[in-house]
Amino acid sequence: MTVISVTGGARLEGLVRVTGAKNSVLKLMAATILAPGTSTITNVPAILDVTIMAELMRRLGCDISHDEPKQSLTISVPEKLEHRADYDLVRQMRASICVLGPLVTRFGAADVALPGGDAIGSRGLDYHIEGLKKLGATVKSEHGYLVAHAENGLHGATIHLDFPSVGATETILMAAVLASGVTVIDNAAREPEIVDICNMLSEMGAQISGAGTSVIEITGVKKLNPVTHQTIGDRIVAGTWAAAAVMTKGDITVTGIDAKYLEMPLSKIRDAGATVDIEKDGFRVTMNSRPKSVDIVTLPYPGFPTDLQPQFIAMNAIAEGAAMVTENLFEARFRFVQELARLGASVKTDGHHALIRGVEKLSSAPVEATDIRAGAGLVLAGLVADGNTLVHGVEHIDRGYTDFVDQLVSLGADAKRID
Ligand code: EPU
Repeated sequence: MTVISVTGGARLEGLVRVTGAKNSVLKLMAATILAPGTSTITNVPAILDVTIMAELMRRLGCDISHDEPKQSLTISVPEKLEHRADYDLVRQMRASICVLGPLVTRFGAADVALPGGDAIGSRGLDYHIEGLKKLGATVKSEHGYLVAHAENGLHGATIHLDFPSVGATETILMAAVLASGVTVIDNAAREPEIVDICNMLSEMGAQISGAGTSVIEITGVKKLNPVTHQTIGDRIVAGTWAAAAVMTKGDITVTGIDAKYLEMPLSKIRDAGATVDIEKDGFRVTMNSRPKSVDIVTLPYPGFPTDLQPQFIAMNAIAEGAAMVTENLFEARFRFVQELARLGASVKTDGHHALIRGVEKLSSAPVEATDIRAGAGLVLAGLVADGNTLVHGVEHIDRGYTDFVDQLVSLGADAKRID
């Protein structure tokens, strides 16, 4: 068992570089399935989820090598692949579902284990299933697997999503690129990671317009080609460092990220009282006083990201005043506030609202991370707690943050991993 030990009190200062976005790279990896041959993805973070995805794709028949120092991943995709994603891997990482679209469109069949709910909520797949059905696939749930067939290929369709789901947009997108005819995704997700995958698919030869808007149009092509593609920077990791700068009254320059992906979180950072300077390859956050509390409402992009909600609750926990945080995406994402309360935070939840009354100081305690972002939020809280906080459940943090503790230490934190 590994824990992260943090002793609060240090002001974080210095420069930190974020690597590629977890929520982009996993889908870019899946997209390589669409073209036989060797593709290379660069700016790949050394995180557990990449290892799990690589294992899943190896079992399908891909040959994958991950050069961690160079942050690049080479994926060789043969002409024929297996089409089954097993439960033992899918249960470890819900994003495994992103092989569904590429497998069914390229091979006419896919069996992907149902991931089930997870620590942040129930997380349906109905939009993915309905989308594939509209494209002509038959999709059934059998013995814990989603079994999809399209022996005669997929055809274009107009698909209206009830909610701009990131995962469903990606499944439909990756299935539609090799379908015959035109597909329109209405109310599509607009996240920067969607634009990233659309860019990669276009480089592979796909015909896509409207990426980054609510209406994406895809004209199917017969064949795609392998590519070399660079993953966009991780806006959630970047936003985590911004919150760390505010909480520790620090001065952190974050590079490797386009600050325009963080307009809403950075405007909240300014509202909290920090100075934010936008730079060419990132931004700098400087803070000299106790933060002011800031209300937050999570929404699909360009709204405030749910994946920064726990970190900003941690920030509000030590802010001056009271803040209301509304979570609109994942019903169980407030579970972590019970852990934050162990550090002395004052948080009351009611359904999808949380009321946080800032306290002057948190006090250290052992706490447990229940998911990646909750883990990051608890480590941030530990940075401003009196004494030594032990964060358990580090495997969650490892799923999304590369060298988190080393980076904290390089910024001046008193932190270490203890095995
Ligand atoms: N939903 C349905 N039915 C569906 C699909 C989604 O009801 O068929 C619901 C979900 O239950 C949720 C909402 O729609 O309430 C949004 O879900 P979405 O599909 O947009 O999320 P996702 O694709 O499952 C990705 C990220 C999440 C991130 C969300 C929202 C990956 C691997 N995961 O999940 O990241 O929170 O988009 O931005 O890309 C994280 O990194 O910590 C994380 C949870």
